[in-house]
Amino acid sequence: MKLQTLDGWERSHLSDELNETDLRKRVLLIGWILRRRDHGGVIFIDLRDRRGLVQLVFNPEFANQTHALAHHLRPEWVIAIKGEVRLRPDESINLELVTGRIEIFVDELKILNSSDPPPFPLDEETNPSDSVRYRYRYLDLRKTYGARKNLLFRHHLFSKIRNFLNSQDFVEIETPCLTTSTPEGARDYLVPSRLTPGNFYALPQSPQLFKQLLMVAGFERYYQIVRCFRDEDLRADRQPEFTQLDIETSFMEEENLFSVMEIMIKGLVEDLLGVELSIPFARIPYGEAMERYGLDKPDVRFELHLTDITAALGLTQFGVFRNAIDGGGIVKALKIEDGAKLSRKELDELRDFAAIYGGKGVAYTRIKEGGDWQSPIAKFLSDEERSEINRLVSAKPGNVVLFGADSSKIVNDVLGNLRNQLAEKLGLAPTGALKFVWITEFPMFEYDTDEKRFKAMHHPFTSPMQEDLNLLEKDPGSVRSRAYDLVLNGSEIGGGSMRIYRSDIQERVFRTLGIDDEQANQKFGFLLEALRFGAPPHGGIAFGMDRLTAILTGSESIRDVIAFPKTQRATCPLTGAPTPVDPDQLKELGLAIVKAKH
Ligand code: AMO
Ligand code: AMP
Repeated sequence: MKLQTLDGWERSHLSDELNETDLRKRVLLIGWILRRRDHGGVIFIDLRDRRGLVQLVFNPEFANQTHALAHHLRPEWVIAIKGEVRLRPDESINLELVTGRIEIFVDELKILNSSDPPPFPLDEETNPSDSVRYRYRYLDLRKTYGARKNLLFRHHLFSKIRNFLNSQDFVEIETPCLTTSTPEGARDYLVPSRLTPGNFYALPQSPQLFKQLLMVAGFERYYQIVRCFRDEDLRADRQPEFTQLDIETSFMEEENLFSVMEIMIKGLVEDLLGVELSIPFARIPYGEAMERYGLDKPDVRFELHLTDITAALGLTQFGVFRNAIDGGGIVKALKIEDGAKLSRKELDELRDFAAIYGGKGVAYTRIKEGGDWQSPIAKFLSDEERSEINRLVSAKPGNVVLFGADSSKIVNDVLGNLRNQLAEKLGLAPTGALKFVWITEFPMFEYDTDEKRFKAMHHPFTSPMQEDLNLLEKDPGSVRSRAYDLVLNGSEIGGGSMRIYRSDIQERVFRTLGIDDEQANQKFGFLLEALRFGAPPHGGIAFGMDRLTAILTGSESIRDVIAFPKTQRATCPLTGAPTPVDPDQLKELGLAIVKAKH
């Protein structure tokens, strides 16, 4: 087959620009062949361009030579045609296509390139397995359906964000990718240095330190749409490299920052989805979120609360509850209104669900007429205990009440996640609902029982709450911070804080974290120094743009909104990265592989 060049041919229209008002117009179209159908001598081709599909007709009576050439055409070949716009006969009108009322009678054809048979048809019906899809991602993205649409949405989202922030006097500034460690709780990706062998750059887990330095530099309002790198265990909502909308401001406190962010998000959601949001968003302090929902990223699209019933069980003889309470733990209940929807088998299987979160089981009861319990554990509890529990959870006939008993961490984890799972199973979240909520007043530190030391819950540059400053040395566990997260439908889509801007407080926080002055100076000396040169009060936030885009497009995984995502093992199915390197490259870097890991 002889391939031709464009040689002056210029596209007159994109597919979606054509409709029945263009009848009899001569057009020049360029694109890919989705499919070819031969109908008794007439050949039909669905031509795809970046906007959509249009039907081409090769009729031997209309243009004989061109028709002969069209016999050779196969899926995904690249062609250019000239032809005339005509109305489709009534029986072949397709109202699902923008161009579904017309077709193009072709009289000239250029074949620009051929294609190997694609590994899967690029149509709506075929859903190849992930491994094939990502191996041939460039074909997957060529489809008019699916991930391509998400990338276009993402593009519009980013462009609207830029417009909004620019209009509010924010400045977009790039920060380095080859840098030193920025602690955000994950492992660093390291890059060996050739010029100073034995030394490494770290790819940024976030631009945290640089954006603070930009505040010291007096920019006051910064943003960046920026790639961040974290070597951590991956899940559906985590990638080793992901994109943040990173923001930092000076002289704004929580109220002011929240309000600007809320106005931005409200505008985006209304423009892109036509969904009205009411602002300000709800706020829930961390402690209350844990108490009522068991998680610090509660899905508040549905009502379903955990109730602490420990106090009602002070004298209980039921071993499971007794052991938990004696061990310093708690007992919490979760009431499901429509208990009939949960079968005996499903209730018994909750034990396996609990195990995922380190729990030993989930006890349950059905509530009968008069508040009676139908439950394997009914006999272990006294009448008074059962009726007090009924009262605390407002139990009514037909309800099912679930119980978790363990350390508060495990109980909250088990019941908090169960709450989400049951809501999904029972369809409790209204479709299309978008519920944003700020979580505030996070604890400043978390105690790491393995390492026997306090760790920063957000990051060590987060400011403690002013009124808790005096507890920093005495009782670090009860210091609250000025950190906040933004949660959407149960997913953490953003997090940030007001920062420490005084070097004396920063040094005290480092000490509480067990980072001594020497280490602090070695790792973050540049920041401590900068704080001594008139650092303004400042704070900011970073949004996980992959997560936000995934939720707004209704995608199940953030991989669906990323052009070339990585697998759960942090590999790239398309390029094969990571790959071994040439021994010479290693030598140049002063590196030797000690032992390949399998
Ligand atoms: P944080 O660590 O909370 O804050 O990150 C901000 C947001 O980034 C998203 N995110 C991720 N998305 C995909 N894959 C990942 N591996 C991943 N990790 C995080 C989340 C998260 O809410 N420097 C601070 C921000 C600040 O204090 O201003 C920071 O990075 O949606
Ligand atoms: P067992 O005595 O282990 O047979 O447990 C009795 C019931 O209590 C079963 O329904 C278990 O699933 C449940 N159960 C066991 N451990 C716990 C726990 N830590 N919290 C809540 N329920 C539990």
